[in-house]
Amino acid sequence: MASLAASAASASATYSVPAEWRARAMIKPDTYDAFYAEAARDPDAFWKREAQRLDWITPFTKVKNTSFAEADFGIKWFEDGALNISANCLDRHVAERPDAIAIIWEGDEPGDSRIISYRDLYEEVCRLANALKANGIRKGDRVTIYLPMIPEAAASMLACARIGAIHSVVFGGFSPDSLAGRITDCDSQLVITADEGLRGGKRVPLKANVDEALAHCTSVEKVIVVRRTGTNVAMKAGRDIWYHDAVATAAPDCVAEAMNAEDPLFILYTSGSTGKPKGVLHTTAGYLVWASMTHQYVFDYRPGEVFWCAADVGWVTGHTYVVYGALANGATTLMYEGIPNYPDFSRFWSIIDKYQVEIFYAAPTALRALMREGNTWVERTSRKSLRLLGTVGEPINPEAWEWYHRVVGEGRCPIVDTWWQTETGGAMISPMPGATDLKPGSATKPLFGVKPELVDAEGAVLEGAAEGNLVITDSWPGQARTIWGDHERFFQTYFTTYAGKYFTGDGCRRDVDGYYWITGRVDDVINVSGHRMGTAEIESALVAHAKVAEAAVVGMPHDLKGQGIYAYVTLNANETGDEALRRELVQWVRREIGPIATPDAIQFAAGLPKTRSGKIMRRILRKIAEGDVSNLGDTSTLADPSVVANLVANRQS
Ligand code: WT7
Repeated sequence: MASLAASAASASATYSVPAEWRARAMIKPDTYDAFYAEAARDPDAFWKREAQRLDWITPFTKVKNTSFAEADFGIKWFEDGALNISANCLDRHVAERPDAIAIIWEGDEPGDSRIISYRDLYEEVCRLANALKANGIRKGDRVTIYLPMIPEAAASMLACARIGAIHSVVFGGFSPDSLAGRITDCDSQLVITADEGLRGGKRVPLKANVDEALAHCTSVEKVIVVRRTGTNVAMKAGRDIWYHDAVATAAPDCVAEAMNAEDPLFILYTSGSTGKPKGVLHTTAGYLVWASMTHQYVFDYRPGEVFWCAADVGWVTGHTYVVYGALANGATTLMYEGIPNYPDFSRFWSIIDKYQVEIFYAAPTALRALMREGNTWVERTSRKSLRLLGTVGEPINPEAWEWYHRVVGEGRCPIVDTWWQTETGGAMISPMPGATDLKPGSATKPLFGVKPELVDAEGAVLEGAAEGNLVITDSWPGQARTIWGDHERFFQTYFTTYAGKYFTGDGCRRDVDGYYWITGRVDDVINVSGHRMGTAEIESALVAHAKVAEAAVVGMPHDLKGQGIYAYVTLNANETGDEALRRELVQWVRREIGPIATPDAIQFAAGLPKTRSGKIMRRILRKIAEGDVSNLGDTSTLADPSVVANLVANRQS
């Protein structure tokens, strides 16, 4: 195969679509242009056709009914249609190809694996759906899923979808407190968990965490526990049930509930710039059309190919591409329980060889960590099966992109850098491998139906090559419909900064070719290893500590994580900020929120830079954390300008 031709050696290099991709891909350059134009000009016609990729129980007659304006705000797609997501992900494939592989599961320990056909998965999901019903779960009820990356996680999501229960998956790395908050916010009646998780040889006490969380929750009546490691766990009589017992006695068939297109499918909690995490709600038809369409076009997916999205199902990437998009398309989806560097730095590439993976999709943070270990770990594996690579979650620096392309993909695999968010349901700005010339570091061009716009701080629209804040001006089927229990917050958060437009919270540059380059969050959200963290959440965790008076958290550049967490902490009078307290506070935040919120630096500060009205000037704190202290900008509005010199002198590096 010919290698991609680099037209320039610099950061502005362009890799044109390889001839063999142009020949075989579903979406070629002219198809891209035609589809994009049609979706913009006649969305009803375009989406009516795309929606035929699903099986409908009741066909829809209305397509798009949406408005971002305050007067008639509302988002509805295919609103009079009915369908079932688990039937779309399972039944129709079982009818045609029952023995096709749905899930390849690779355990934490090499050699531990399971191969699950579509028929197997169908039966598992039906049994579990029946077990959920037997335990009182009905359409519209909430079920919290707190599981490791095991097939039971996908089965649990699909079992909920089958009976119309709304799932809320909570990442296994979250603390009991974080879990409790997410259970209480949506009043979950049932939790599905495991005795323990296993990651990189380390055990995660999931069931013990659930027990601790439930001490603070009143809504949960039943807990279903998967036996994963076999360790001894406490089982509370009348509440806790073993998963294997629950499914053993359940029938392997379960009628798929007819769901309205706009019935809720799942809630997924994500951090914002203020307050506690919000429960982003996705509904049924629009989400699945988006998941299926983007999975097919962005990855040029064909049935039979092995697709590996390395994200955890605790994040939206896992929802859309490990589970829903992949299974809707009849794909073989690979689920990996472990971490990139266990037992060694070749693990990803060995798994690719073991299962002949064709498409591999991962976060830049993992790639940077592996890149640092040198090329031998990669080169000792074959990777001949690979034909397409993808990234998601954070901007990828051109150096990591080039390494991924040249070393991992041997110059033969295009890279799709997909920009999207929990709220968007699926990829929004991304190359399509047969249609889009690539520029390392750019998510390139919008998908069909996505209308991006750049605006300045006042909301003025910027034309042509420009840099500003990224908004989306019209609805797309996969977008979130509300925040669970707080529709007003949904409207306020996303549609009022720039009236009538969806505000992404991201900064972005558009170049002369119309390519989009995401520059990162412009709000008080930081992106740590491709995961969104609200600075306000970490601050409230810190101030909950008895010795802390005040805290301010900002992002700082981090070689591996993209952004690291830098915390300024003011202690109560008579407390001393020493190494021991620093370690204690780090542990404290890990316990309060989870390991992903671990501060990378804590600086004890006598005072924080505030305006005369008491507002913390984060701009200054960011500059100091970045080590860019030569140009702190205007400090004349500070109530006490002397705090700045003090902060600079005590910067943590
Ligand atoms: C934020 C959304 C999309 C699923 C994983 C994260 C950042 C995401 C990219 C990309 C640059 C990216 C944005 C966005 N982001 N993808 N390809 N290039 N930045 O979902 O936790 O909802 O975070 O991740 O800042 O707003 P999320």
